[in-house]
Amino acid sequence: MARLPILLYPDTRLYKKASPVGNIDAAIRTLVADMTETMYAAPGIGLAATQVDVHKQIIVIDVSETRDQPIVLINPEISGREGIQNIDEGCLSVPDIYEPIERAQRITVRALDGQGKAFSLDAEGLLAVCVQHEMDHLEGKVFVDYLSRLKRTRIIAKLLKQQKKRA
Ligand code: NI
Repeated sequence: MARLPILLYPDTRLYKKASPVGNIDAAIRTLVADMTETMYAAPGIGLAATQVDVHKQIIVIDVSETRDQPIVLINPEISGREGIQNIDEGCLSVPDIYEPIERAQRITVRALDGQGKAFSLDAEGLLAVCVQHEMDHLEGKVFVDYLSRLKRTRIIAKLLKQQKKRA
């Protein structure tokens, strides 16, 4: 397994739309393992392939406190949404920024797991937010895109300054 570099906002590669995965072969399984390791090491509760510059519909999530219940979602599709919630979101591609975003409170998502088996997941609360956030990444959308232009401009300035300092 390997840790993968994570793209940082406003990198334009975060705006690429991911394609569905065809065969879940050894290369995809390696990518899923690497993404999982990268998410735990970051540390984060979710990671989309887009964030490691692979534009395929793959997400890994773990919102458990014990950090030992990874969920792999390949080619995810939301089949039901209910209610509204507004909780603070953050993102490994947008370090140190937390903003409330309006999301569905409960969702049903269908996907393939890491072995290519189809399954359905009913999620609510933080897990539901996380799935919606990561699925946005696959569409080339970052959570700060929901904020006002003024807020986003400030965030971009802050992040570019941060990235310059680190380079
Ligand atoms: Ni994110």
